[in-house]
Amino acid sequence: MASSFLSLPSLLLFLFLTITSLLVHSSSSKPPRPVHLPRTGRVGFRIGLTCVDHGRNLTKFQLIERSVRRGKLRLERLAELATPTSPSKGIRAPVFSGDGEFLMNFTVGSPAVPVSAIMDTGSDLIWTQCMPCTKCFDQPTPVFDPVKSSSLRNISCTSELCEDPTVFKCDHGCKYLYIYGDESSTRGYMAKDTFIFGDSASIHNVVFGCGVNNQGLGLAEGSGLVGLGRGPLSLVSQLDIDKFSYCLTSMGENKTSQVLFGALADLNYSATSGKTRSTTPLVQNPFQPSFYYVSLKGITVGKTRVRVPKSTRKPNNKDGSGGMILDSGTTLTYLDEDVFGALKKEFTSQMKLGVSKRPGAIGLDLCFDLPTTTDVSEVAVPKLKLHFEGSDLELPEENYMIADSWDGGGGVVCLAMAASSGGLSIFGNIAQQNLLVLHDLEEETVSFTPTQCDQL
Ligand SMILES: *[C@@H]1O[C@H](CO)[C@@H](O)[C@H](O)[C@H]1NC(C)=O
Ligand SMILES: *[C@@H]1O[C@H](CO)[C@@H](O)[C@H](O)[C@H]1NC(C)=O
Ligand SMILES: *[C@@H]1O[C@H](CO)[C@@H](O)[C@H](O)[C@H]1NC(C)=O
Ligand SMILES: *[C@@H]1O[C@H](CO)[C@@H](O)[C@H](O)[C@H]1NC(C)=O
Ligand SMILES: *[C@@H]1O[C@H](CO)[C@@H](O)[C@H](O)[C@H]1NC(C)=O
Repeated sequence: MASSFLSLPSLLLFLFLTITSLLVHSSSSKPPRPVHLPRTGRVGFRIGLTCVDHGRNLTKFQLIERSVRRGKLRLERLAELATPTSPSKGIRAPVFSGDGEFLMNFTVGSPAVPVSAIMDTGSDLIWTQCMPCTKCFDQPTPVFDPVKSSSLRNISCTSELCEDPTVFKCDHGCKYLYIYGDESSTRGYMAKDTFIFGDSASIHNVVFGCGVNNQGLGLAEGSGLVGLGRGPLSLVSQLDIDKFSYCLTSMGENKTSQVLFGALADLNYSATSGKTRSTTPLVQNPFQPSFYYVSLKGITVGKTRVRVPKSTRKPNNKDGSGGMILDSGTTLTYLDEDVFGALKKEFTSQMKLGVSKRPGAIGLDLCFDLPTTTDVSEVAVPKLKLHFEGSDLELPEENYMIADSWDGGGGVVCLAMAASSGGLSIFGNIAQQNLLVLHDLEEETVSFTPTQCDQL
């Protein structure tokens, strides 16, 4: 259990870390830098993404239903961890977002062993299950055996990537414990090895967690997790990559989505191509530095503008609450309760359909009944425009309305949005379909370019 790991008196740990750092600093030579990666930004690579539910014989609506359920748990965790209850009071177990909707394939070690890992833009650590397992869940690929990899090296305690006392403990090497809430966690030791991404991007000394004790249903969709957050342990930080993007295909279409790193990330976008691109600054939240926050200033439904409160535009600088994050692992878009209420009112008055009384069709708050005589394609839906700091983004209809038509006519159309409970708003992945979502880490911006993601 987590408690045994954390029950070390914080004072002892503090003293230990202080002494270690004194030893390090008093030695004449600097400690070896653990990460020595080429700046791959000029090269770039891409990886096809697999939906966690791929291979299941489900309808689009059933797929959405499953992912909405997962997303709700994720929302609760994300909101909780963005607002630590007692910031910087002693050492506490941090909780990370975990799970996600897409799997990213790559290989680890020499010889190369395939790994299919959950892509998570809301956390940093990269890890995979490792032999010999004290506890491992079933995974789709063989479990990585570090002993068989000639290029694997353990990370020493003095490494700068082993610093955070809430995650790491020095005990015959750099041991870690990463808790994802819901009793999901991974525990093991830090190592570095060669990873191969895409067709040929072979990168040495990627630092990752060799997880020998892993639990949690949400994690079992893959064989580990790749954090793409903004913290030092994430893949993008380790590779010192200047930008990355992803492009998610229409849900339920069984087409491959993509994640692109480095020079490939913006697909050689040029303003002369006639494509419109919406660019908005990334916002920092010191309480949760790993998240990609954006500033949402308003939403227009049809011709009516809905006001967005200050608490959504920016996270609170005193407690880190509120704000809006961009997330690839949450399905719906979650908005402040008042904003969602106003949006609901607008859609209700502007849609020419009756509000469905079928209680929470799939955990969605606002659905409309589709008369048996009407085809989904004939339904008139008000336009939806998001006003981000610096630019507007008009969403394609399928990015905020989802339909389920019954056999024999009729059905429902639902707004793919819901009210957030913890004050944190999330721009979810249904809203990001068929947009190239580019994270420019140098400029600190994110941009959205309408793109047929299945044609990349
Ligand atoms: C990734 O690996 C998994 C497990 O081996 C496989 O089912 C899936 O098709 C792969 N996805 C891609 C895009 O290659
Ligand atoms: C998928 O499900 C449908 C309806 O439930 C069924 O008719 C079909 O045979 C299934 N296909 C496969 C490949 O299992
Ligand atoms: C790395 O550390 C683990 C855990 O302490 C240990 O079991 C393993 O033998 C070490 N591997 C190497 C290559 O030193
Ligand atoms: C999805 O597409 C792949 C190949 O593109 C195919 O093998 C697979 O059967 C498809 N799955 C479903 C559920 O249609
Ligand atoms: C971008 O341009 C470079 C050279 O200018 C070319 O090598 C590369 O293939 C292009 N990438 C894409 C995705 O079009």
